[in-house]
Amino acid sequence: MTAGRLSALSPRERLILALDVPTASDAIHLADQVKDSVGCFKIGLQLFLREGPAVVEAVAALGNPVFLDLKLHDIPVTVAKAVSSLARLPVSMLTLHTGGGRAMLEAAVEAASAFREPPMLLGVTLLTSLSEADFPSIGMTGVASDLVRGRAALAKASGLGGVVASAQEVEMLRQEMGDRFGLVIPGIRPAGAGLDDQKRVETPQRAIVRGATHIVVGRPISASADPCTSARAILAMITEATEADHEPG
Ligand code: C5P
Repeated sequence: MTAGRLSALSPRERLILALDVPTASDAIHLADQVKDSVGCFKIGLQLFLREGPAVVEAVAALGNPVFLDLKLHDIPVTVAKAVSSLARLPVSMLTLHTGGGRAMLEAAVEAASAFREPPMLLGVTLLTSLSEADFPSIGMTGVASDLVRGRAALAKASGLGGVVASAQEVEMLRQEMGDRFGLVIPGIRPAGAGLDDQKRVETPQRAIVRGATHIVVGRPISASADPCTSARAILAMITEATEADHEPG
């Protein structure tokens, strides 16, 4: 996905569903119910490591793009070869750890540029499970928001299409990174929904208004008694926010 495409995203294209389920058949069952309301399906380590590349093809066969959330982090040559290994798979978005440094990120960008349809590469800035209290034990110092800002700038300078960030950072990142940079925001809960294990959450509307290009939603849809209705409701919230954003004056 090119930077130019970001400004033209439809509300549906902005909604990413996390397929955090154990098996390919669970994933297909869930995805098939909601595919008309959801833009993209996110496959993470749990599903990919159990089912392998075949699950990417099976989900993509439903007709929606696939986001492979593997958070790659290794020496540049290894990451470049890992990215190249995905060339034959229908992957539209792929994550890498910005902590791997500029050479690693640039190697990934170069490897992906050889694809017929290069995926949008997204940098993970700081895992939301980490707080500043963890920094000394992993050799880091300073303030989390400064680290996120610095790593997002590194991602952009290295040629990535955007970052995954928390809703707390989306406004600051939108201001600093400009309009042509993807901001993919998890930790989304409709107003009044349960938090599950997320500590800080944001509503779909507020995440979009603050500058998210995409939101990642998992359990509010996947654990719902009626995933189809829940996905439609969240899509309506995104539509409401994009329309409010475009209202004059
Ligand atoms: O179920 P829930 O909506 O909390 O799922 C959020 C999804 O976003 C999960 O797949 C989770 O791994 C992912 N994610 C996150 N926080 C991050 C990065 C990714 O919740 N910082």
